Amino acid sequence: MDKFVIHGGVPLRGRVQVKTAKNAVLPMMSAALLTREPVVLHDVPRLRDIDTMAKILEELGVVVERDGAGMKLQTRNELNCEARYELVSQMRASFCLLGGLLGRRRKAKVSLPGGCVIGVRPVDLHIKGLQALGADMKVEGGYVIGEADKLVGTDIYLGGAYGSTVTGTANVLMAAVLAQGTTVIDYAACEPEVQDLCVLLTKMGAHIEGIGSPRLVVHGVPELHGAEHTPIPDRIEAGTFMVAAAMTGGDVVVENVRVDHMSAVVETLRHIGVTVLTNGNWIHVHSDGAFKPVDLVTLPYPGFPTDLQAQFMTLLTLADGISVVQEKIYPDRFMHVAELMRLGANIRKEGNFAIIKGVDRLNGAKVMASDLRASAALVVAGLAAEGTTEISRIYHIDRGYEEIEKRLIPLGARIERIRDQKRIAIEEAA
Ligand code: EPU
Repeated sequence: MDKFVIHGGVPLRGRVQVKTAKNAVLPMMSAALLTREPVVLHDVPRLRDIDTMAKILEELGVVVERDGAGMKLQTRNELNCEARYELVSQMRASFCLLGGLLGRRRKAKVSLPGGCVIGVRPVDLHIKGLQALGADMKVEGGYVIGEADKLVGTDIYLGGAYGSTVTGTANVLMAAVLAQGTTVIDYAACEPEVQDLCVLLTKMGAHIEGIGSPRLVVHGVPELHGAEHTPIPDRIEAGTFMVAAAMTGGDVVVENVRVDHMSAVVETLRHIGVTVLTNGNWIHVHSDGAFKPVDLVTLPYPGFPTDLQAQFMTLLTLADGISVVQEKIYPDRFMHVAELMRLGANIRKEGNFAIIKGVDRLNGAKVMASDLRASAALVVAGLAAEGTTEISRIYHIDRGYEEIEKRLIPLGARIERIRDQKRIAIEEAA
């Protein structure tokens, strides 16, 4: 397994480009199941999750062609409706194949995604929404199986104990666009990635009102056609670079950003005492390395994103006082806490709260990445820590950040990927 070695303490300076959002791209790839015409996506990042999704789609009869950063997906064969455990278990987002399959093929068998290190991640709302549209849904042998003679629009309340569901909304949307009549999704997720899926579906011929609001009204159409689309920039990647710039006392312009997607992040950084200037499609972050404590609660969009909780907690380890972070989306998403403490952070976890008492500095150590965003947090911590930090299991970060080290090095970061010799040998033999 590859690892990162980081010699920290260098302020980051320069400009960095944000890639398109993997969490927007993945459901869009599933939307290619809704038509036999080509769906073309531009600027698709090179990520492990996207490769896995492409593999599953190919098994489902979709030809996926990549040409540089472009991706063309075209359904050629609609016979197989089963997304296998072996692939789906590698990546939870593949569960949003369910809506794409049911929407057009009226048949789907998708493996339950299985356990996840950030906590229990149920799919009851996905099932409830699809059932409401008339699909016969059952869970059998670890698979969710859905069948429908026809899908009929209806009113669906999609809220759960933790608020709205992002991929649940995507699944119900993809089934509703080809249903008969009108579907009203109440408590729909408002996340930019869901909005962007609506934009693509609209380009494909779907009729959706209320995009970006918690009430989506979908007027079903008999057929969709092909379309071309450039997905939105990744707001979580942008936020990660912003925290890295701030925490190292740096000065960085983060480019290719949708500033309107970043309000909670910009506001929080300013409260922490970081200078943040926004303009057009870039954000300039300047920091003198002094940070004020804040209280932070993760919430569905437009609230503070859970996918930046670990990175912000890392920054708060150096604040001048006590900060409280409450995780309201995934109450168990605290795997990074123990690793940050190995670097010298002072954090106490109490249920879904973390109480962070700022320290003067972090010191490099050996740590282990447990999941995508926790690994991003450890990279940020390593960049700011004094001495050398070694992060193992960085395959997690490769799921969601394209070659992050190659984009940090031009900013002055001293970060090196140590490739796994065994993996190199296997790749060379293949
Ligand atoms: N929930 C239910 N029932 C359901 C579905 C969700 O109770 O049927 C609960 C979840 O347990 C959670 C909350 O609702 O407490 C929100 O979960 P949601 O369904 O919105 O999450 P998701 O769609 O599975 C996406 C992102 C996550 C991100 C969350 C929240 C993708 C592929 N994944 O997951 O991204 O954390 O929304 O914003 O879009 C990541 O990128 O690191 C990541 C985990």
